[in-house]
Parts: sequence; C-alpha cells; structure tokens
Amino acid sequence: MSNNEQKPFLITADKLRKYYGEVKPVNDISLEIAQGQVLTLVGANGAGKTTLLNLLTGLIMPDRGEIRLLGEKITGVPPDQRAKRGIVKTFQLEHVFDEMTVFDNIRTACFSAAGKHYSLFKALDDEKEINERTDQLIELFDLAGVKHAFVKNLGHGYKKVIDIAMCFAMKPKILLVDEPTSGVGEEEKYKIMDLLMNQIEANNLAAIIVEHDLHLVKELSKETVVMCDGEFIARGTPEHVFSQEKVVEVLVGKGF
Ligand SMILES: Nc1ncnc2c1ncn2[C@@H]1O[C@H](COP(=O)(O)OP(=O)(O)OP(=O)(O)O)[C@@H](O)[C@H]1O
Ligand SMILES: [Mg+2]
Repeated sequence: MSNNEQKPFLITADKLRKYYGEVKPVNDISLEIAQGQVLTLVGANGAGKTTLLNLLTGLIMPDRGEIRLLGEKITGVPPDQRAKRGIVKTFQLEHVFDEMTVFDNIRTACFSAAGKHYSLFKALDDEKEINERTDQLIELFDLAGVKHAFVKNLGHGYKKVIDIAMCFAMKPKILLVDEPTSGVGEEEKYKIMDLLMNQIEANNLAAIIVEHDLHLVKELSKETVVMCDGEFIARGTPEHVFSQEKVVEVLVGKGF
C-alpha cells in the first residue's frame, strides 16, 4: 500500500516451514500481503513455489510456523474452509471438465460457491442468480464466443482461462495462481495475464502469481519475489529485483 494506513494485512505467514527429509522447499518463510497487493513469484524449478502456495491454501500442513487471515490464525484450518474464507487457488485444470460446456463448468463453480451441489436432477434453470453470475463471469473473461462449446474441443489457453474464471466464482479475497500461462502460446500468454490482472485489480484482490516467463513478469507486474531453495532472496519491483546479481545467478537459463 502506498500510504501506510493502519490496515491489517490480509494474509500473513510467520516462519513457515515445510521439509521433506533433506529437501527444504519452504524454509522459514515470512510474508505479508495486503488487500489489493499483487505479487509475482518466480524461481527455478524445485525452488518451493508450489509448496508455499499449498501451505497457504491448506492443502499441506507446515512443520512449523503460523498463517493468519485478517489477523486470525488459520494454520490448522482445512482447504475447503479456507476457500470459503477467501483463500482460493487455481485448480491446475483438475476441476475443469472436458465433457462439459464452458457454461456448465463455470456454473458448477458458482453452485459450489453458493454452497449448493451440482445435480442433474435439479431444475438448474430455476437458479436464476447462479446463471446470471455464470454469464457475468463468461463476459468478464471473454468466453462468450465459446459459452456452449465443450471444453474438450477448446485449446489449452481456454482451459486456463476457465480455471481462473472458476476461481473468481469462489469470490476470493486472495487468489493464488500457479503458472497461469504454462504450456500456452506466446500471444495467448499476454491475453490470459491481461484478463487475470484486470480482474484482480477490478476486485481489489490480493494475489500471488507464480510465473516462469520473466518478460511477462517485467511487463505486467509491479512487485515480484524471487524464491531459491525454500527462501525469498529478493522482493521489489521487477527492475530492482532482476538487476541483482544473486537473482540473475539463480535465474540463469530461465529466459532472463
Ligand atoms: N510431497 C512431496 N514429497 C517430497 N518432496 C516434495 C513433495 N512436494 C514437493 N517436494 C519437493 O520440494 C521441492 C520444491 O517443490 P515445488 O513443487 O514446491 O517447487 P516449484 O518451485 O513449484 O517448482 P516448479 O517450478 O517446477 O513448479 C522439490 O524438490 C520437490 O521435489
Ligand atoms: Mg510449481
């Protein structure tokens, strides 16, 4: 935040640790993120980026350390409860169903967010509000042209956008996005990142976005964190961070 208001941080992590034997993917990391603050997270393969996000969502539990949401301890809270409270991570496509249309996929997420379960036996069309929210998300994420297409007939980039739209259905406070542009063509990368950044900004969300494309990070991100062997080694504007020798060293071969 530019002006230092006495606002509590949205999410804080205090000395988070996760070891797997000799491997130390998250080694006493502390972190604070305020509402509206967007961090890109970069680092070589195996640096611990996904492990950190999984600790924040509750998918895995830390060996030690504390996580707080709006000041309240949530370290032991399970993932579904955290999601309801606003910590939402992209599903890595595993919740995007190939055999369903774009509309039905996103509607499923809207149902889930509303605490209802998708059921073929339900008169779904009566759920006016949910359908409206689905259509709204389809518009916001520029999916109107493929609304009734089956996902199996769409390219990988579309699936990434659908995955992100499904996260927004959950009404996140903080969005954790793991490699939104991986496996996607150069042109589509920018489109996906633009859609994502625009919606994060429009909703004043906090976010951590793991991104391997450093050109994209430099162009679209205001604040970036570099992770190496389970630790943060630099944080700041991409210009500042990428000009540091230790950062260049660990990112050599990553396209920088
Ligand atoms: N469940 C697990 N059991 C054992 N080791 C694990 C486990 N999960 C992660 N690791 C190890 O922890 C390290 C960090 O993994 P992580 O997936 O967090 O890295 P990453 O920064 O996301 O890498 P990438 O850029 O390839 O996605 C790796 O050495 C990985 O093999
Ligand atoms: Mg990863």
